[in-house]
Amino acid sequence: MRAPGRVNLIGDHTDYNDGLVLPAAIDLDTWIGLRRRRDGLVRIASLQAGGETGSFWTDEVEPPDPALPSPARGWVDYVAGVAWSLREAGLPVHGFDGIVDSTIPPGAGLSSSAALELAAALALLGPAPITESSGVLAALAQRAERDYVGVNCGIVDQFAAAECRAGRALLLDCRSLESRHVPLPAGVRVVVCDTGSPREPRTSAYDERRAECGRAVALLAEQVPSISSLRDVDRATLRRHRHLLPDAVARRAEHVVGENDRVVAVADAMAAGDLPRLGQLFAASHESLRSNYEVSCPALDAMVAVAVAVPGVVAARMTGVEFGGCTVNLVREGAVEALARAVADEYPRLTGLVPRVYAVATADGAGNV
Ligand code: GLA
Repeated sequence: MRAPGRVNLIGDHTDYNDGLVLPAAIDLDTWIGLRRRRDGLVRIASLQAGGETGSFWTDEVEPPDPALPSPARGWVDYVAGVAWSLREAGLPVHGFDGIVDSTIPPGAGLSSSAALELAAALALLGPAPITESSGVLAALAQRAERDYVGVNCGIVDQFAAAECRAGRALLLDCRSLESRHVPLPAGVRVVVCDTGSPREPRTSAYDERRAECGRAVALLAEQVPSISSLRDVDRATLRRHRHLLPDAVARRAEHVVGENDRVVAVADAMAAGDLPRLGQLFAASHESLRSNYEVSCPALDAMVAVAVAVPGVVAARMTGVEFGGCTVNLVREGAVEALARAVADEYPRLTGLVPRVYAVATADGAGNV
């Protein structure tokens, strides 16, 4: 079983606001090789974790008691969490002896956890053909991460790992879970630049931002009762009622409302092959994440500045959660080398950090191989 990492081309911090996202799966992935068992025992070893093993019975796994302090979680909990969430949904769950390995760098913001969850789902669902839709599998994987592992994530990572296709990005409506594939412009590569500055644990600013978005919704709904999430807010409505929101809360809302528009605009610009427009939209997204959402950092800003100065780099912005991880770049095929060289030469001088550049290919979502 194999499931890919993902990079979000645009649409950050919109998924948990019922908004729009445009991720692509990449050719860095997680694998589970397995031998099926007749009972419900799962025994699994990780080559990434130095051969560390874990085991559980699929009919016994239960999430931690929410009344108690959350326990420390490791990679096996992602697999056990998926077993729990599939079982809770009434799906047949099977045991196996397995080995997991991955080429997705952990902690870089390329969704190694969603890849593990999707590969685990396919492994646990057993030999019969899988009839559940990508949307259902993604939602069950998200539930595992949220309610079993204890990370309050949105759905973009799991959906991308399940549903993306090579050569395309996926325009996903996180409210309806309707999606459509959008071909990448011809002659353009996706390049991921890792700042070498690890992301901070998601529980810090991520949860705070989610709460601020909730606050914006509550205050705006007092004026316009039909608003139940930031997806229901357009620029004009926000402008009209902005003065009722604390400044930081208003800026969080501004980011989300603008970012939803930018997702649609990027999908249109990709279809039209309008590369200058892609550059403007990525720049606007980065700036909004920096100044409105306040989740960028000097390392991410420096990486974007180095990239956009390279001729042939079409678009660059931070992607993912907060304060570190990777940028995503759209780059003309002939300019990938020049970007890699510029990053190797200039970025360490600006930041003192060691970068990594991944000229990735887009890939298919999770599957049985
Ligand atoms: C993390 C979460 C996603 C999404 C992004 C921000 O990757 O897991 O659900 O919220 O952050 O766009």
